[in-house]
Amino acid sequence: MNTEKTQTLLSLCTSLGVRACTLSEIDSTNEEARRQANADMSTPALIIADAQTGGRGRMGRSFHSPADTGLYLSYLAKAKPDASDTVRLTTAAAVAVSLAIEEIYGISSEIKWVNDILVDGRKVCGILCESFRAKSGERFAVIGIGVNISTQNFPEELRGRAASIAQDSSQKYALAEAILRSLTKFYNDPKDPEIIRIYRERSAVLGRRIRLLDCGEETLATATDIEEDGTLCVSLDSGELKKIHSGEITLRFDNGKEI
Ligand code: BTN
Repeated sequence: MNTEKTQTLLSLCTSLGVRACTLSEIDSTNEEARRQANADMSTPALIIADAQTGGRGRMGRSFHSPADTGLYLSYLAKAKPDASDTVRLTTAAAVAVSLAIEEIYGISSEIKWVNDILVDGRKVCGILCESFRAKSGERFAVIGIGVNISTQNFPEELRGRAASIAQDSSQKYALAEAILRSLTKFYNDPKDPEIIRIYRERSAVLGRRIRLLDCGEETLATATDIEEDGTLCVSLDSGELKKIHSGEITLRFDNGKEI
């Protein structure tokens, strides 16, 4: 890891009271966060790696994490009794990433419920929030964020659905700083009404046709609202109204493309 480039990020961590852990390669920053919590290392902590050999996504999927062309980080903190819910955390993290991409690259993005950031209809970032009890018995939350900064060669199954936000990775640590600033603010005040206001404003799904994937079943619906805690409200084609707190959706574009 280039220490010169990470210097301002490390200074920010110090000023925010966040322990920083920079790594050139790791299996998964979320896994490393769990190991550090089990080893009673101090929190909050930011774990950031140049590459992941076993990057994880939601629903047991992997996250493509080639060396140097992406930002792979996890924020580890003691769980808050009133707000360790992973949907709420994911909502806050998505807003932090969308704001940071706009600030650093001047690019507008949309948020696809619950954890994807899209630019021009393609995924540029995925978020994996987890909460767990460490060996000490204490509960922790980990917010894992992966951004495709300048990745060009995506695996076959991601082609046409994934994209990157820049030509090179020179602004990678500036992006990490901007994300960390909002993330720590939102983590300390998870019920800040700005989070859900911006989440709704930037939603790629509100008012749109979606396909719900729930426990292996697929249903067509229209997304009607997102509640304050991140719950998605949908109107099924059958007329039934449903609230969704987990599971996954696919967004249908007018041209028939789905993401
Ligand atoms: C998804 O797209 O389903 C979520 C992807 C989350 C990827 C990030 S990269 C940093 C952190 N470490 C991981 O193993 N996963 C998250």
